[in-house]
Amino acid sequence: MQSVLSELKAKNKTIGFVPTMGALHAGHISLVEESKKQNDFTIVSVFVNPTQFNNLEDLEKYPRTEQADAALLEDAGVDAVFFPSVEVMYPNGAESNSYDFNGLENQMEGKFRPGHFDGVGTIVKRFFEIVQPDHAYFGEKDFQQLRIIQQMVENYKIPLEIVPVEIKRDENGLAMSSRNKRLTEEMLEESPKIYQILLKAKDFLQNNSVEATKKMVEEEFAKTKLELEYIEIADEKTLESVTNIEPNQKIRAFIAAFAGDIRLIDNLRLN
Ligand code: PAJ
Repeated sequence: MQSVLSELKAKNKTIGFVPTMGALHAGHISLVEESKKQNDFTIVSVFVNPTQFNNLEDLEKYPRTEQADAALLEDAGVDAVFFPSVEVMYPNGAESNSYDFNGLENQMEGKFRPGHFDGVGTIVKRFFEIVQPDHAYFGEKDFQQLRIIQQMVENYKIPLEIVPVEIKRDENGLAMSSRNKRLTEEMLEESPKIYQILLKAKDFLQNNSVEATKKMVEEEFAKTKLELEYIEIADEKTLESVTNIEPNQKIRAFIAAFAGDIRLIDNLRLN
């Protein structure tokens, strides 16, 4: 990686970087495509980061499809793929640092997945130090992660630009995710309801309060086989819950729900 990079830097080439945990799908590839448009050279990392899993079973069952990932990335025209080992990324043992992301880490996923964002911050910071990209690409699928990384870059004055990329969905509306590979047939049919309910919430909020909208979402979930973990309607910048929407305030609905054993997240801009 260092020899590839020194050559690129010497030639003043711009570097786009897409960090992933593999089990790649069209959502990841949309990040790659953005990077290819905006940079001379695109690097993708594939690394299942142990420190961001707060559940050992989830880590062990995380899909690993390295051969297929490599083929997909080659087809997508990626310039280099970085497949580091745990030892390379964590020479002193797989432990995370602890970060203050200005409170962004205390909302939603931070509440339900203790330590998760410390693990994400630790690994992404280390990747940024190794790869030194000009642009790094993050999906709005993990909107809180995207905001936290933007905050980290600001707090540590890391000289690169974070580029957000829209959520890529299946035709039925289900947000693409590596975890979808583990859904049962029954849950594959149920899961698109998450997006349908998000769309309904957006519509419903036009004429109803935030509170009533959340209640409607809970009622809609009760009619499905999915189990709602949370519905949050929050400010896009602070990720704090909103009760009344201020003029010009950008807000988003965030959902985490279980489809059987599989935990899915999704979100949608509401205004
Ligand atoms: P992973 O879940 O593999 O996702 C890698 C990147 O792809 C993230 O920025 C994620 O938001 C984006 N992504 C996933 N599904 C998407 C979809 N349907 N549409 C658009 N973008 C999508 O997120 C991680 O890995 C890890 O936390 C990581 C940042 C690599 C740190 O370990």
